[in-house]
Amino acid sequence: MEILDGLDYSSIHRAKQLLEKGGVVAFPTETVYGLGADAFNPYAVAKIFEIKKRPRFDPLIVHIDKMEWVHDLAVDVPPKALRLTERFWPGPLTIIIKKRPIIPDIVTAGLTTVGIRMPAHPVAQELIKTFKRPIAAPSANPFGYISPTRADHVAQMLKDRVEIILDGGKSVFGIESTIVSFLDESAYINRHGAISAEEISEVIGSVYDSKDSGVCESPGSLPYHYSPHRPLKIVNSPLEIATEKSSFLSFKRPTIRVISRYVRTLSEQGDLREAAANFFSYLIELDNKDVDIIYAERVPEKGLGRAIMERLKKASKKHRYTTL
Ligand code: TXA
Ligand code: MG
Repeated sequence: MEILDGLDYSSIHRAKQLLEKGGVVAFPTETVYGLGADAFNPYAVAKIFEIKKRPRFDPLIVHIDKMEWVHDLAVDVPPKALRLTERFWPGPLTIIIKKRPIIPDIVTAGLTTVGIRMPAHPVAQELIKTFKRPIAAPSANPFGYISPTRADHVAQMLKDRVEIILDGGKSVFGIESTIVSFLDESAYINRHGAISAEEISEVIGSVYDSKDSGVCESPGSLPYHYSPHRPLKIVNSPLEIATEKSSFLSFKRPTIRVISRYVRTLSEQGDLREAAANFFSYLIELDNKDVDIIYAERVPEKGLGRAIMERLKKASKKHRYTTL
């Protein structure tokens, strides 16, 4: 495994050659790091599932660098989807739309729809542009574990299972893209992410939560996910911390003494965007400590806080991922 400077053109060129041979490359995006393969090569895409130990029923997002690809990959794109792409692409928005047969079934887990996203990170864009094809990529973590927001996280999690990691620095958003699907005239949020539900509805009006409406759920939306190795408990206040042999993921600067041995504060002033950006990297850091439990402080469920809480709730469920 090699970590290469993603801003260096020779690294992009090596990554492109590996993709052409049907290999897999870890690369930075503005949300989290991705593990990419040629979206048109089912054998290459199969390697992603093996490396991550990801169940085959969980479809991948196809990453593109220009709008023309949408019409090559999909049909009947709803006007609301187009309006969202105009506003948020390139950026942390994934749209679920009707696929064309050109996309292999393994990418979409046999669904009739495909998830498409145009990332904003310059290294991701350069990689797709140089490769001249869409790249299918999930987050570059073992299935069910915390998502990586830095190249060294990917190195720690996947070790020699990946040949090349392009380093593009720390992911600025730090949590995954917001996934929006469409049914009839309505739009649904399948996964809360780096673009808030409020921002989505400013562009297209009402949006529903796919969980509440019971439709369009993502096959990969399992109740447990993003799980640290240690148990995680959500608390309302550090007063609920029962042992010193713990770490505490605080939302704001604590106003009372915290007994946990390790404490990380997501945002001193309680800014949700800053909290989201630090969320996975602090969780990984606290999970690497020798403690019995991680306590995490509840964050307000508005704006990006909804995305953070969605992940915290899943992380607090009993973890089932397999250790590599
Ligand atoms: O920010 C992101 O979206 C990152 C970066 C790398 O782009 N990618 C990412 O991929 O988070 P992944 O595979 O970890 O999560 C993708 C989610 C899964 O829950 C999957 O079930 C859902 O997207 N998904 C993909 N295609 C879908 C489809 N056709 N219909 C419904 N859900 C889909
Ligand atoms: Mg993921």
